[in-house]
Amino acid sequence: MQSKNASIWTEKAQFPSFPTLNNDLQAEVAIVGGGLTGITTAYLLAKKGVKVAVLESEKVGSGTTGFSTGHLTSWLDADYSFIASRFSKETARLVAQSMNNAINLVENICRQENIDADFVRLPAYQFAEDESQVKELEDEAFATTEAGLINQLMDSVPLPFSVKRGLKLEEQGEFNALRFVEGLSQKVTQLGGQIFEQTHVTDVDDSSPCVISTKNGPKVTAQHVVLATHTPIQFNIVQTELLPYMSYVVVAKSNGRAIPKALYWDTLEFYHYIRTYEVDGQSYLIVGGEDHKVGERSVDEHEPFRKLEEYIRSHFGNLEITHRWSAEYFYSADGLPYIGRSPFGRNKYIATGYTGDGLTFSVAAATVLSDLVTEVKNPMARIYDPARFNLLASATDLAEQNLEFLYKFVKDRFSTDAKDVADVPRGEGRLVRVEGRQLAVYRDEKDTVHMMSPVCTHMHCVVQWNGAEKSWDCPCHGGRFHATGEVLVGPPVKALVKHEILAKDQLRKE
Ligand SMILES: Cc1cc2nc3c(=O)[nH]c(=O)nc-3n(C[C@H](O)[C@H](O)[C@H](O)COP(=O)(O)OP(=O)(O)OC[C@H]3O[C@@H](n4cnc5c(N)ncnc54)[C@H](O)[C@@H]3O)c2cc1C
Ligand code: FES
Repeated sequence: MQSKNASIWTEKAQFPSFPTLNNDLQAEVAIVGGGLTGITTAYLLAKKGVKVAVLESEKVGSGTTGFSTGHLTSWLDADYSFIASRFSKETARLVAQSMNNAINLVENICRQENIDADFVRLPAYQFAEDESQVKELEDEAFATTEAGLINQLMDSVPLPFSVKRGLKLEEQGEFNALRFVEGLSQKVTQLGGQIFEQTHVTDVDDSSPCVISTKNGPKVTAQHVVLATHTPIQFNIVQTELLPYMSYVVVAKSNGRAIPKALYWDTLEFYHYIRTYEVDGQSYLIVGGEDHKVGERSVDEHEPFRKLEEYIRSHFGNLEITHRWSAEYFYSADGLPYIGRSPFGRNKYIATGYTGDGLTFSVAAATVLSDLVTEVKNPMARIYDPARFNLLASATDLAEQNLEFLYKFVKDRFSTDAKDVADVPRGEGRLVRVEGRQLAVYRDEKDTVHMMSPVCTHMHCVVQWNGAEKSWDCPCHGGRFHATGEVLVGPPVKALVKHEILAKDQLRKE
């Protein structure tokens, strides 16, 4: 079994290495974040002759991009029937076109730039296992057709278990997103762009020009800044319209089980996603799902993995499990991503709210952002505009999210999950009250205890321990911190405030 932090893509990755920013720099466009969104935007801009600089906290591709499941689809998590009813049929049609264009662009870039990212065309199937989901599937077939995508209702899908109804969409895609990003980052530098790793951005001043501060000191001055950080860092009004979720993935060797190469989803509200991938002649089955809101406390954080393993056993038989990982994604309140100029911003752009279709949306975002920055008209800019506010489309989820923010803000201040620091097991973290103060306490594998304020440095909610990923997760806007408090995922840009570090001898219970 691989470590929980290694995805099937990251374990084989040949990460290119880029320097850390050590001196002040000027660029036309600064891009914060070296995931699929940031690197594809950098590539498209560099191709247009724009001087770009990418600033990445850790390594290129080390964010969610390296922990996806590699599908590229025109289908939407939010469903075309939802988009057509909440926006319009025309919007649904344009979104379908933009998703198709994004898949075509990945295919073309792989071919033209000779990037070996295992891109393949393959069919996608949604399926209903339960009679009660059949009507929903049929409605989606109708809406998908109206959006201009040719699809086909079927009585079965090519999986080794029976289903009530299936829906097929041809010409979808699968690729190794990490290898794509690796390949593309080399092209960015060949085109004159600059990429800096281990360069954590701590502040973005959206003036003319923009001034971007980094943790190590150097500043970047640029006419435009793109926050390609999956969710915008620091405060941004769209954070009130985003719902952060964790999703879980389990991989098994599929030897002896002939599972036709395709993308599969069931029709549950938080669906299971199924696909296959081959590495060095070994076939793997990839199954994901069991999503829940970030920072939601569960009795046992490993339960989502166990449920996925049980799903594999019940649907595919006893297979050898090889990988497990989880990562975060963001739902937008109205079902469409927010891509474009930041609300109330001048030269700052954002791209977020991709749901589980973020690989396709990252590439769609790169085309919109590179056009906006270079003042080229793009029909999708209006549809994905972050400043849109569709009250009808957003109302219910939004009200729920904001009420939940207030509830968590107050309630979590009083909660603890261990009575005493000595009760925190090795390799685990707990909220503990110490001398009247609520602290986030992590005991590392060497028995050293790290004590931090549990107050998220974004907007002051209280973080919760995530035992599956060994991180502190904020339930309010999805910020996440390493076990020792450094930022793992924005919006926060600053680490949890250290309380003190105590040696193991000081903490033993007599
Ligand atoms: C388990 C799982 C499976 C998924 N599978 C699929 C799939 O099969 N198909 C699909 O379409 N979508 C999938 N998604 C969604 C998709 O993976 C993401 O939406 C997509 O990868 C987002 O790419 P990104 O470049 O915007 O963000 P990221 O890949 O997260 O990149 C953001 C980068 O910004 C950097 N960064 C953050 N803050 C700072 C800072 N302050 N300074 C400098 N750098 C910073 C981070 O280090 C990171 O590298 C999945 C999501 C999950 C959780
Ligand atoms: S992520 Fe916003 S308060 Fe923590």
